[in-house]
Amino acid sequence: MSRLLIRPTARLAGEVAVPGDKSITHRAILLAALAEGRTVITGYLPADDCLRSLAAVEALGVPVVKEDSPRPRLRIDGMGADALKEPAALLDLGNSGTSLRLLTGLLAGLPFVSVLTGDASLRRRPMRRVIDPLRRMGAELFAWGGGERAPLVVQGRRPLNAIDAELPVASAQLKSALLLAALSAEGTTRIMEPARSRDHTERMLPQFGARVTVEESGVSLTGPQRLRGAEITVPGDLSSAAFPLVAAAIVPSASVRIPAVGINPTRTGLLELLASMGAKIGMEQPRGASSAFGGEPVADLTSQAAGLRGVTASGSQIVTMIDEFPILCVAAAVAKGETVVRDAQELRVKESDRIAVMAAELRKLGVGVEELPDGVRIAGGASLRGAACHSHGDHRIAMALAVAGLAAQGETMIEDVDCIETSFPGFADLFRRLGADITLEAD
Ligand code: S3P
Repeated sequence: MSRLLIRPTARLAGEVAVPGDKSITHRAILLAALAEGRTVITGYLPADDCLRSLAAVEALGVPVVKEDSPRPRLRIDGMGADALKEPAALLDLGNSGTSLRLLTGLLAGLPFVSVLTGDASLRRRPMRRVIDPLRRMGAELFAWGGGERAPLVVQGRRPLNAIDAELPVASAQLKSALLLAALSAEGTTRIMEPARSRDHTERMLPQFGARVTVEESGVSLTGPQRLRGAEITVPGDLSSAAFPLVAAAIVPSASVRIPAVGINPTRTGLLELLASMGAKIGMEQPRGASSAFGGEPVADLTSQAAGLRGVTASGSQIVTMIDEFPILCVAAAVAKGETVVRDAQELRVKESDRIAVMAAELRKLGVGVEELPDGVRIAGGASLRGAACHSHGDHRIAMALAVAGLAAQGETMIEDVDCIETSFPGFADLFRRLGADITLEAD
Protein backbone atom coordinates (compact mmCIF):
# COMPACT_ATOMS: atom_id res chain seq x y z
CA MET A 1 0.00 0.00 0.00
CA SER A 2 1.37 3.43 -0.91
CA ARG A 3 1.53 6.46 1.34
CA LEU A 4 1.99 10.19 0.83
CA LEU A 5 4.47 12.25 2.85
CA ILE A 6 3.71 15.95 2.94
CA ARG A 7 5.76 18.76 4.41
CA PRO A 8 4.55 22.32 4.88
CA THR A 9 4.79 24.32 1.71
CA ALA A 10 6.09 27.87 1.62
CA ARG A 11 5.33 28.35 -2.04
CA LEU A 12 2.43 27.10 -4.11
CA ALA A 13 2.08 28.75 -7.49
CA GLY A 14 1.56 28.11 -11.17
CA GLU A 15 -0.83 26.87 -13.81
CA VAL A 16 -1.84 23.21 -13.89
CA ALA A 17 -4.54 21.33 -15.78
CA VAL A 18 -6.64 18.79 -13.88
CA PRO A 19 -7.77 15.51 -15.47
CA GLY A 20 -11.13 15.17 -17.23
CA ASP A 21 -14.44 15.12 -15.39
CA LYS A 22 -15.27 11.72 -13.95
CA SER A 23 -19.07 12.01 -14.10
CA ILE A 24 -19.02 13.26 -17.70
CA THR A 25 -16.56 10.54 -18.79
CA HIS A 26 -18.79 7.76 -17.41
CA ARG A 27 -21.82 9.14 -19.21
CA ALA A 28 -20.02 9.61 -22.52
CA ILE A 29 -18.80 5.97 -22.40
CA LEU A 30 -22.22 4.53 -21.60
CA LEU A 31 -24.15 6.62 -24.13
CA ALA A 32 -21.53 5.78 -26.79
CA ALA A 33 -22.13 2.07 -26.11
CA LEU A 34 -25.87 2.47 -26.73
CA ALA A 35 -25.39 4.66 -29.81
CA GLU A 36 -25.09 3.73 -33.45
CA GLY A 37 -21.90 5.06 -35.05
CA ARG A 38 -18.60 6.41 -33.86
CA THR A 39 -18.19 8.41 -30.66
CA VAL A 40 -14.92 10.21 -29.95
CA ILE A 41 -14.33 11.30 -26.35
CA THR A 42 -11.40 13.71 -26.03
CA GLY A 43 -9.88 14.49 -22.64
CA TYR A 44 -11.65 11.55 -20.95
CA LEU A 45 -10.54 10.64 -17.43
CA PRO A 46 -8.18 7.63 -17.64
CA ALA A 47 -8.69 6.73 -13.98
CA ASP A 48 -9.75 3.42 -12.50
CA ASP A 49 -13.43 4.33 -11.96
CA CYS A 50 -13.95 5.30 -15.60
CA LEU A 51 -11.85 2.41 -16.89
CA ARG A 52 -14.32 0.12 -15.09
CA SER A 53 -17.19 1.59 -17.12
CA LEU A 54 -15.09 1.21 -20.24
CA ALA A 55 -14.25 -2.45 -19.51
CA ALA A 56 -17.95 -3.11 -18.87
CA VAL A 57 -19.01 -1.78 -22.28
CA GLU A 58 -16.23 -3.81 -23.92
CA ALA A 59 -17.64 -6.87 -22.12
CA LEU A 60 -20.99 -6.07 -23.78
CA GLY A 61 -19.25 -6.38 -27.16
CA VAL A 62 -18.55 -2.72 -27.96
CA PRO A 63 -15.25 -2.04 -29.80
CA VAL A 64 -13.12 0.57 -28.01
CA VAL A 65 -9.82 2.16 -29.07
CA LYS A 66 -7.88 4.02 -26.39
CA GLU A 67 -5.19 6.66 -27.00
CA ASP A 68 -3.21 8.16 -24.16
CA SER A 69 -1.25 10.88 -25.91
CA PRO A 70 -1.13 13.70 -26.82
CA ARG A 71 -4.45 13.82 -24.93
CA PRO A 72 -6.42 10.89 -23.55
CA ARG A 73 -8.93 9.96 -26.26
CA LEU A 74 -11.45 7.17 -26.75
CA ARG A 75 -12.98 5.97 -29.99
CA ILE A 76 -16.07 3.87 -29.41
CA ASP A 77 -17.85 2.26 -32.36
CA GLY A 78 -21.35 1.63 -31.11
CA MET A 79 -23.76 -0.56 -33.08
CA GLY A 80 -26.89 0.36 -31.14
CA ALA A 81 -28.47 -1.18 -28.05
CA ASP A 82 -29.80 -4.21 -29.99
CA ALA A 83 -26.23 -5.29 -30.80
CA LEU A 84 -25.12 -5.47 -27.15
CA LYS A 85 -24.36 -9.02 -25.94
CA GLU A 86 -24.70 -10.78 -22.61
CA PRO A 87 -21.36 -10.39 -20.79
CA ALA A 88 -19.47 -13.68 -20.48
CA ALA A 89 -18.21 -12.92 -16.97
CA LEU A 90 -19.03 -10.83 -13.89
CA LEU A 91 -18.78 -7.06 -14.39
CA ASP A 92 -16.39 -5.88 -11.67
CA LEU A 93 -16.88 -2.16 -11.12
CA GLY A 94 -14.13 -1.80 -8.52
CA ASN A 95 -14.77 1.23 -6.30
CA SER A 96 -17.08 3.00 -8.75
CA GLY A 97 -20.61 3.71 -7.55
CA THR A 98 -21.37 5.65 -10.73
CA SER A 99 -20.40 2.66 -12.93
CA LEU A 100 -22.46 0.26 -10.86
CA ARG A 101 -25.62 2.33 -10.60
CA LEU A 102 -25.65 3.73 -14.16
CA LEU A 103 -24.88 0.33 -15.70
CA THR A 104 -27.67 -1.28 -13.68
CA GLY A 105 -30.08 1.15 -15.36
CA LEU A 106 -28.61 0.53 -18.80
CA LEU A 107 -28.64 -3.26 -18.38
CA ALA A 108 -32.24 -3.27 -17.11
CA GLY A 109 -33.29 -2.50 -20.69
CA LEU A 110 -31.23 -5.25 -22.36
CA PRO A 111 -32.77 -8.73 -22.71
CA PHE A 112 -30.11 -10.85 -20.98
CA VAL A 113 -28.54 -11.58 -17.59
CA SER A 114 -25.67 -9.54 -16.15
CA VAL A 115 -23.99 -9.78 -12.75
CA LEU A 116 -22.43 -6.62 -11.31
CA THR A 117 -20.09 -6.42 -8.36
CA GLY A 118 -17.27 -4.32 -6.93
CA ASP A 119 -14.76 -3.94 -4.13
CA ALA A 120 -15.60 -4.21 -0.42
CA SER A 121 -16.55 -0.51 -0.19
CA LEU A 122 -18.87 -0.67 -3.21
CA ARG A 123 -20.49 -3.87 -1.87
CA ARG A 124 -21.47 -1.94 1.29
CA ARG A 125 -23.27 0.88 -0.55
CA PRO A 126 -27.09 1.10 -0.80
CA MET A 127 -28.58 -0.27 -4.01
CA ARG A 128 -32.27 -0.61 -3.08
CA ARG A 129 -32.87 2.92 -4.37
CA VAL A 130 -31.99 1.83 -7.92
CA ILE A 131 -33.39 -1.73 -7.71
CA ASP A 132 -36.95 -0.75 -6.72
CA PRO A 133 -37.78 1.63 -9.60
CA LEU A 134 -36.11 -0.63 -12.19
CA ARG A 135 -38.29 -3.52 -10.98
CA ARG A 136 -41.32 -1.29 -11.45
CA MET A 137 -40.12 -0.73 -15.03
CA GLY A 138 -40.24 -4.50 -15.59
CA ALA A 139 -36.64 -5.69 -15.09
CA GLU A 140 -35.86 -8.48 -12.64
CA LEU A 141 -33.13 -7.74 -10.13
CA PHE A 142 -31.64 -9.74 -7.27
CA ALA A 143 -29.20 -8.41 -4.71
CA TRP A 144 -27.10 -9.71 -1.87
CA GLY A 145 -27.45 -8.42 1.70
CA GLY A 146 -31.22 -8.97 1.94
CA GLY A 147 -31.77 -7.34 -1.43
CA GLU A 148 -29.87 -4.16 -0.50
CA ARG A 149 -26.35 -4.48 -1.87
CA ALA A 150 -24.07 -5.65 -4.69
CA PRO A 151 -23.43 -8.16 -6.15
CA LEU A 152 -26.53 -7.54 -8.26
CA VAL A 153 -28.06 -9.86 -10.83
CA VAL A 154 -30.00 -8.06 -13.55
CA GLN A 155 -32.33 -9.88 -15.91
CA GLY A 156 -33.15 -7.10 -18.33
CA ARG A 157 -36.27 -6.73 -20.46
CA ARG A 158 -36.82 -4.91 -23.70
CA PRO A 159 -38.97 -2.89 -23.85
CA LEU A 160 -39.38 -1.72 -20.26
CA ASN A 161 -42.44 0.11 -18.92
CA ALA A 162 -42.28 3.87 -18.41
CA ILE A 163 -42.87 4.98 -14.81
CA ASP A 164 -43.26 8.07 -12.66
CA ALA A 165 -40.46 7.94 -10.11
CA GLU A 166 -40.13 10.11 -7.04
CA LEU A 167 -36.54 9.68 -5.88
CA PRO A 168 -36.01 9.20 -2.14
CA VAL A 169 -32.69 11.13 -2.32
CA ALA A 170 -31.29 13.76 -4.68
CA SER A 171 -28.92 11.43 -6.53
CA ALA A 172 -27.61 11.90 -10.04
CA GLN A 173 -26.53 8.28 -10.14
CA LEU A 174 -30.06 7.15 -9.51
CA LYS A 175 -31.62 9.71 -11.86
CA SER A 176 -29.17 8.76 -14.60
CA ALA A 177 -29.78 5.02 -14.13
CA LEU A 178 -33.50 5.65 -14.69
CA LEU A 179 -32.86 7.89 -17.71
CA LEU A 180 -30.74 5.14 -19.29
CA ALA A 181 -33.51 2.62 -18.62
CA ALA A 182 -36.11 5.07 -19.96
CA LEU A 183 -34.37 4.99 -23.36
CA SER A 184 -35.54 1.34 -23.56
CA ALA A 185 -39.04 1.95 -22.15
CA GLU A 186 -42.29 2.47 -24.00
CA GLY A 187 -43.86 5.78 -22.98
CA THR A 188 -42.80 8.71 -20.84
CA THR A 189 -40.72 8.17 -17.71
CA ARG A 190 -40.88 11.10 -15.30
CA ILE A 191 -38.29 11.54 -12.56
CA MET A 192 -38.74 13.91 -9.63
CA GLU A 193 -35.99 14.53 -7.08
CA PRO A 194 -36.05 16.35 -3.73
CA ALA A 195 -33.33 18.74 -4.99
CA ARG A 196 -31.72 19.14 -8.41
CA SER A 197 -28.68 16.84 -8.60
CA ARG A 198 -25.92 17.17 -11.22
CA ASP A 199 -27.50 17.22 -14.68
CA HIS A 200 -24.72 15.90 -16.93
CA THR A 201 -26.89 13.10 -18.34
CA GLU A 202 -29.67 15.52 -19.29
CA ARG A 203 -27.10 17.79 -20.98
CA MET A 204 -25.35 14.98 -22.83
CA LEU A 205 -28.36 13.01 -24.13
CA PRO A 206 -29.19 15.66 -26.79
CA GLN A 207 -25.56 15.49 -28.04
CA PHE A 208 -26.34 11.85 -28.88
CA GLY A 209 -29.57 12.86 -30.63
CA ALA A 210 -31.97 12.05 -27.76
CA ARG A 211 -34.87 14.20 -26.60
CA VAL A 212 -35.20 14.84 -22.88
CA THR A 213 -37.40 17.40 -21.16
CA VAL A 214 -36.08 19.27 -18.13
CA GLU A 215 -38.60 21.22 -16.05
CA GLU A 216 -38.66 22.71 -12.58
CA SER A 217 -40.61 19.68 -11.38
CA GLY A 218 -38.18 17.11 -12.80
CA VAL A 219 -36.92 15.36 -15.92
CA SER A 220 -38.86 13.28 -18.41
CA LEU A 221 -37.90 11.11 -21.35
CA THR A 222 -40.20 9.38 -23.83
CA GLY A 223 -38.90 6.07 -25.11
CA PRO A 224 -37.91 4.06 -26.88
CA GLN A 225 -35.18 6.23 -28.40
CA ARG A 226 -32.12 5.44 -30.47
CA LEU A 227 -28.86 7.33 -30.03
CA ARG A 228 -26.26 8.25 -32.61
CA GLY A 229 -22.50 8.63 -31.96
CA ALA A 230 -21.17 12.04 -30.89
CA GLU A 231 -17.94 14.03 -30.48
CA ILE A 232 -17.46 14.99 -26.84
CA THR A 233 -14.63 16.95 -25.24
CA VAL A 234 -14.56 16.41 -21.49
CA PRO A 235 -13.86 19.51 -19.36
CA GLY A 236 -11.50 19.39 -16.37
CA ASP A 237 -13.12 17.96 -13.25
CA LEU A 238 -14.20 20.65 -10.77
CA SER A 239 -14.16 18.02 -8.01
CA SER A 240 -10.44 17.49 -8.72
CA ALA A 241 -9.73 21.21 -9.20
CA ALA A 242 -11.20 21.71 -5.71
CA PHE A 243 -7.97 20.37 -4.14
CA PRO A 244 -5.49 22.85 -5.67
CA LEU A 245 -8.07 25.66 -5.37
CA VAL A 246 -8.45 25.13 -1.61
CA ALA A 247 -4.71 24.52 -1.20
CA ALA A 248 -4.02 27.93 -2.76
CA ALA A 249 -6.60 29.54 -0.47
CA ILE A 250 -4.93 28.22 2.71
CA VAL A 251 -1.18 28.29 1.90
CA PRO A 252 0.27 31.80 2.51
CA SER A 253 1.02 33.80 -0.69
CA ALA A 254 -0.16 30.95 -2.93
CA SER A 255 -1.69 31.47 -6.35
CA VAL A 256 -2.88 28.85 -8.87
CA ARG A 257 -4.64 28.84 -12.21
CA ILE A 258 -6.49 25.84 -13.65
CA PRO A 259 -7.64 26.03 -17.29
CA ALA A 260 -10.87 24.64 -18.80
CA VAL A 261 -12.71 23.33 -15.75
CA GLY A 262 -16.40 22.39 -15.90
CA ILE A 263 -18.54 24.93 -14.01
CA ASN A 264 -21.93 23.26 -14.32
CA PRO A 265 -24.11 25.13 -11.77
CA THR A 266 -25.28 21.82 -10.27
CA ARG A 267 -21.65 21.24 -9.22
CA THR A 268 -20.40 24.66 -8.05
CA GLY A 269 -21.59 24.63 -4.43
CA LEU A 270 -18.02 24.60 -3.09
CA LEU A 271 -17.05 27.68 -5.13
CA GLU A 272 -20.02 29.57 -3.72
CA LEU A 273 -19.21 28.51 -0.15
CA LEU A 274 -15.54 29.40 -0.57
CA ALA A 275 -16.54 32.85 -1.86
CA SER A 276 -18.68 33.41 1.24
CA MET A 277 -15.73 32.27 3.38
CA GLY A 278 -13.66 35.09 1.86
CA ALA A 279 -11.64 33.00 -0.62
CA LYS A 280 -10.28 34.75 -3.70
CA ILE A 281 -11.57 32.46 -6.41
CA GLY A 282 -11.65 33.83 -9.95
CA MET A 283 -13.51 32.59 -13.01
CA GLU A 284 -11.82 33.69 -16.23
CA GLN A 285 -12.98 33.33 -19.83
CA PRO A 286 -16.26 31.62 -18.98
CA ARG A 287 -17.50 29.67 -22.03
CA GLY A 288 -21.26 29.03 -22.03
CA ALA A 289 -22.69 25.53 -22.37
CA SER A 290 -21.55 24.39 -25.81
CA SER A 291 -22.02 21.17 -27.68
CA ALA A 292 -18.21 20.85 -27.85
CA PHE A 293 -18.07 20.16 -24.12
CA GLY A 294 -21.07 17.81 -24.07
CA GLY A 295 -23.39 20.74 -23.30
CA GLU A 296 -21.34 21.88 -20.30
CA PRO A 297 -20.15 25.39 -19.34
CA VAL A 298 -16.40 25.76 -18.78
CA ALA A 299 -14.03 28.42 -17.35
CA ASP A 300 -10.43 28.92 -16.25
CA LEU A 301 -10.35 29.04 -12.44
CA THR A 302 -7.89 30.89 -10.21
CA SER A 303 -7.36 30.91 -6.47
CA GLN A 304 -5.12 33.02 -4.25
CA ALA A 305 -4.26 32.91 -0.57
CA ALA A 306 -6.91 34.59 1.55
CA GLY A 307 -7.97 34.81 5.18
CA LEU A 308 -10.99 32.50 5.41
CA ARG A 309 -13.90 32.63 7.84
CA GLY A 310 -16.30 29.86 8.87
CA VAL A 311 -19.53 29.18 7.00
CA THR A 312 -22.78 27.20 7.29
CA ALA A 313 -23.84 24.74 4.59
CA SER A 314 -27.19 22.95 4.57
CA GLY A 315 -30.31 22.05 2.58
CA SER A 316 -30.19 22.00 -1.20
CA GLN A 317 -26.64 23.47 -1.17
CA ILE A 318 -25.32 20.10 -0.07
CA VAL A 319 -26.13 18.26 -3.29
CA THR A 320 -24.14 20.84 -5.31
CA MET A 321 -21.00 20.17 -3.27
CA ILE A 322 -21.58 16.56 -2.26
CA ASP A 323 -18.11 15.34 -3.28
CA GLU A 324 -16.35 18.43 -1.92
CA PHE A 325 -17.22 17.86 1.74
CA PRO A 326 -13.77 16.50 2.70
CA ILE A 327 -11.90 19.46 1.20
CA LEU A 328 -14.46 21.95 2.57
CA CYS A 329 -13.68 20.54 6.03
CA VAL A 330 -10.00 21.33 5.47
CA ALA A 331 -10.78 24.93 4.48
CA ALA A 332 -13.05 25.15 7.55
CA ALA A 333 -10.33 23.85 9.88
CA VAL A 334 -8.05 26.73 8.86
CA ALA A 335 -10.81 29.39 8.67
CA LYS A 336 -11.52 31.72 11.59
CA GLY A 337 -14.74 30.83 13.41
CA GLU A 338 -17.06 27.88 13.33
CA THR A 339 -18.24 25.97 10.27
CA VAL A 340 -21.40 23.86 10.42
CA VAL A 341 -22.50 21.38 7.74
CA ARG A 342 -26.03 19.87 8.07
CA ASP A 343 -28.40 17.79 5.91
CA ALA A 344 -25.47 15.80 4.54
CA GLN A 345 -26.37 12.30 5.82
CA GLU A 346 -25.81 10.96 2.29
CA LEU A 347 -22.08 11.37 2.98
CA ARG A 348 -22.26 8.39 5.30
CA VAL A 349 -22.78 6.04 2.33
CA LYS A 350 -20.10 7.31 -0.05
CA GLU A 351 -16.77 5.51 -0.69
CA SER A 352 -16.41 5.73 3.11
CA ASP A 353 -18.54 7.25 5.88
CA ARG A 354 -17.10 10.66 5.07
CA ILE A 355 -18.61 12.36 8.13
CA ALA A 356 -17.08 9.93 10.63
CA VAL A 357 -13.80 9.61 8.75
CA MET A 358 -13.17 13.35 8.30
CA ALA A 359 -14.02 14.00 11.94
CA ALA A 360 -11.57 11.31 13.11
CA GLU A 361 -8.74 12.30 10.77
CA LEU A 362 -9.02 16.06 11.34
CA ARG A 363 -8.80 15.44 15.10
CA LYS A 364 -5.44 13.76 14.50
CA LEU A 365 -4.29 17.04 12.91
CA GLY A 366 -5.38 18.98 16.01
CA VAL A 367 -8.74 20.27 14.77
CA GLY A 368 -11.77 20.48 17.08
CA VAL A 369 -14.59 18.59 15.31
CA GLU A 370 -18.01 17.55 16.56
CA GLU A 371 -19.64 14.81 14.51
CA LEU A 372 -23.38 15.39 13.93
CA PRO A 373 -25.79 12.75 12.60
CA ASP A 374 -26.02 14.63 9.29
CA GLY A 375 -22.82 16.68 9.21
CA VAL A 376 -20.11 18.27 11.33
CA ARG A 377 -19.34 21.29 13.46
CA ILE A 378 -15.72 22.40 13.04
CA ALA A 379 -14.05 24.88 15.38
CA GLY A 380 -11.90 26.77 12.87
CA GLY A 381 -8.65 28.65 13.31
CA ALA A 382 -6.60 25.70 14.52
CA SER A 383 -2.94 25.66 13.64
CA LEU A 384 -2.78 22.23 12.08
CA ARG A 385 -0.05 19.88 13.26
CA GLY A 386 1.30 17.14 11.03
CA ALA A 387 0.21 13.61 11.97
CA ALA A 388 -0.10 10.06 10.66
CA CYS A 389 -3.50 9.87 8.92
CA HIS A 390 -5.38 7.20 7.00
CA SER A 391 -7.45 7.48 3.80
CA HIS A 392 -9.86 4.67 4.80
CA GLY A 393 -9.55 3.64 1.15
CA ASP A 394 -11.40 6.80 0.03
CA HIS A 395 -9.74 8.90 -2.70
CA ARG A 396 -11.27 12.21 -1.69
CA ILE A 397 -10.33 11.73 1.97
CA ALA A 398 -6.73 10.96 0.96
CA MET A 399 -6.49 14.09 -1.21
CA ALA A 400 -8.19 16.39 1.31
CA LEU A 401 -5.82 15.28 4.07
CA ALA A 402 -2.83 15.80 1.77
CA VAL A 403 -3.94 19.41 1.24
CA ALA A 404 -4.31 19.83 5.01
CA GLY A 405 -0.71 18.58 5.31
CA LEU A 406 0.50 21.46 3.11
CA ALA A 407 -0.78 23.94 5.70
CA ALA A 408 0.26 21.92 8.81
CA GLN A 409 3.39 22.21 10.93
CA GLY A 410 5.73 19.25 10.64
CA GLU A 411 5.27 16.18 8.49
CA THR A 412 1.94 14.59 7.60
CA MET A 413 1.71 11.02 6.40
CA ILE A 414 -1.37 9.63 4.66
CA GLU A 415 -1.55 5.83 4.57
CA ASP A 416 -3.27 3.86 1.83
CA VAL A 417 -3.40 6.33 -1.04
CA ASP A 418 -3.64 3.95 -4.02
CA CYS A 419 -7.34 4.92 -4.04
CA ILE A 420 -6.40 8.34 -5.47
CA GLU A 421 -6.04 6.54 -8.82
CA THR A 422 -9.82 6.05 -8.93
CA SER A 423 -10.35 9.72 -9.80
CA PHE A 424 -7.13 11.78 -9.96
CA PRO A 425 -4.14 10.14 -11.64
CA GLY A 426 -1.07 12.35 -11.19
CA PHE A 427 -2.37 14.08 -8.06
CA ALA A 428 1.02 14.19 -6.27
CA ASP A 429 2.86 15.21 -9.47
CA LEU A 430 0.46 18.07 -10.04
CA PHE A 431 1.10 19.41 -6.53
CA ARG A 432 4.86 19.00 -6.98
CA ARG A 433 4.65 21.07 -10.17
CA LEU A 434 3.06 23.83 -8.07
CA GLY A 435 6.01 23.64 -5.67
CA ALA A 436 4.58 21.41 -2.92
CA ASP A 437 6.79 19.08 -0.91
CA ILE A 438 4.83 15.86 -1.40
CA THR A 439 6.28 12.41 -1.94
CA LEU A 440 4.61 9.16 -2.89
CA GLU A 441 6.16 6.11 -1.18
CA ALA A 442 5.24 2.65 -2.42
CA ASP A 443 5.78 -0.47 -0.32
C1 S3P B 1 -22.14 11.14 -9.28
C2 S3P B 1 -23.14 11.47 -8.42
C3 S3P B 1 -22.92 11.65 -6.98
C4 S3P B 1 -21.46 11.81 -6.65
C5 S3P B 1 -20.59 10.83 -7.36
C6 S3P B 1 -20.75 10.99 -8.87
C7 S3P B 1 -22.49 10.95 -10.71
O1 S3P B 1 -23.41 10.51 -6.31
O2 S3P B 1 -21.25 11.71 -5.26
O3 S3P B 1 -19.23 11.03 -7.05
O4 S3P B 1 -21.58 10.91 -11.56
O5 S3P B 1 -23.68 10.85 -11.01
P1 S3P B 1 -24.98 10.36 -5.89
O6 S3P B 1 -25.75 10.45 -7.14
O7 S3P B 1 -25.12 9.00 -5.28
O8 S3P B 1 -25.22 11.47 -4.92
